[in-house]
Amino acid sequence: LYPDGRRNSKGVDLNIASQFRPLEEAMAPFLSRSDYRAGPLVGFDPADSDDVRDVICPWDHQRTIGRVRWCSREETERAIDTAQKAFPGWNDTPVEERAAILERFAELMEDHMAELMALCCLEGGKLLPDGVAEVREAVDFCRYYAARARELFGAPTLLPGPTGESNELIMEGKGVFATISPWNFPIAIFCGQTVAAAVSGNSVLAKPAEQTSLIAHRVVELLHEAGMPREVVQLLPGDGEAVGAVLSSDSRITGVAFTGSTQTAGLINRALAARDNAPLPTLIAETGGLNAMIVDSTALPEQVVADVIASSYQSAGQRCSALRVLYVQEDIAERVIETLSGAMAELRVGDPTLLATDVGPVIDADAQQGLQAHIDRLKGENRLLAETPIDPEIAANGTFIAPTAFRIDSIEALESEQFGPILHIATFKAGEVDGVIDTINARGYGLTFGVHSRNETFSNHVARRIRVGNVYVNRNIIGAVVGVQPFGGMGFSGTGPKAGGPHYLPRFAAEKTRTVNT
Ligand code: SER
Repeated sequence: LYPDGRRNSKGVDLNIASQFRPLEEAMAPFLSRSDYRAGPLVGFDPADSDDVRDVICPWDHQRTIGRVRWCSREETERAIDTAQKAFPGWNDTPVEERAAILERFAELMEDHMAELMALCCLEGGKLLPDGVAEVREAVDFCRYYAARARELFGAPTLLPGPTGESNELIMEGKGVFATISPWNFPIAIFCGQTVAAAVSGNSVLAKPAEQTSLIAHRVVELLHEAGMPREVVQLLPGDGEAVGAVLSSDSRITGVAFTGSTQTAGLINRALAARDNAPLPTLIAETGGLNAMIVDSTALPEQVVADVIASSYQSAGQRCSALRVLYVQEDIAERVIETLSGAMAELRVGDPTLLATDVGPVIDADAQQGLQAHIDRLKGENRLLAETPIDPEIAANGTFIAPTAFRIDSIEALESEQFGPILHIATFKAGEVDGVIDTINARGYGLTFGVHSRNETFSNHVARRIRVGNVYVNRNIIGAVVGVQPFGGMGFSGTGPKAGGPHYLPRFAAEKTRTVNT
């Protein structure tokens, strides 16, 4: 339930034919299109430009699905100027109006579900269930933040004071926010960051990931259609240099909400800090993880394997919440690994438009090469435990990586997060769990974590000692739900506050007290 008593969006169950068939039919024309277009959506008329890139489908390299016109540095600067001018009027707009725009936008996204799912599939390589989840999560963010904004920005909070004095606390926007979003949740995270900043009274410059500009373009068109003024939320497709670097080094930017790698968050932080004569910035960063799961000997191997498969291989492992290191107590390790390799042999890798597919492509050739190098190195060290077979014809036509599982001694063996369908498995002996927790904590990441055990004392102990943002007990570790599992980590994994949680919007807001001598 949301603060206003509403529930999360209900989505679509693709296993029910009466729900799936109409959606499949509605998606068909969008899946066959190859003329998608994206470009800047700004509060002024952008000049003509020939900085246009083809968009290639990640699972069918023969297919160009559209073109994106990138922003220049000059346009980025002009958009910042536009945003700065738009801020006071937008900040004065009653929160009821701002929140109502988010709710209309949520409805429009639900109405355009088939089109948005088709775009997620074509440009992001997402499976159909992941496309449904994208739209649902974005809708949930809009409704949750609309409800929360009414509470926070609707009326001042009255504070105590001596006789003859009234005190109140007022929340308002901070100024101009840049939102820099990832390709792995091109609707959900893109919308979540952008609408949170806007509903809090800020004007927003939204930079989508280069890989998913077509999706972002369509989403911002719908946001404008819902009534969001064009100069309040502007879309700036483009690369890190012409857009991202300009945004994070411009002294007119009040804050940045970023989701992506820990390394890029560090660069943004340094660029913001290096500005002269600029407001002290707000950086909200949601970054990577080296997410682990601890399984003790009382756990149910079949349940563990189902949850490991979902956590490591769903969305081709391209979730910041995905499981990277499984620690299994030695007594049941053989059984778990055997069951896991059986389950992995059944997974189907391939065309994301087919309901039978379990694992789609990774996002692009750079990602594929990096993951393949890691796989080759571990195979070279003879560490392979299990691998999903992949049809060579399918593999040749897209950026696919077949799911793998490797044996390692400890999380310390991993230099960095591998953002794909690769699982590492280590074992521990009874009595060694505190050492395992210390080793995981010492890596400094702290995003998601799982524990599987039927011994409640054990799982409570582990859950208490582990330093992460989201702990899951006896289930998978992905798919946080807005308002239910507010999402975000600590340490190298992010600054907080958690997206989809009660403390997210206040980070986008300025607080003002008003004291009146009556
Ligand atoms: N919020 C997503 C999840 O929980 C990850 O970004 O899977």
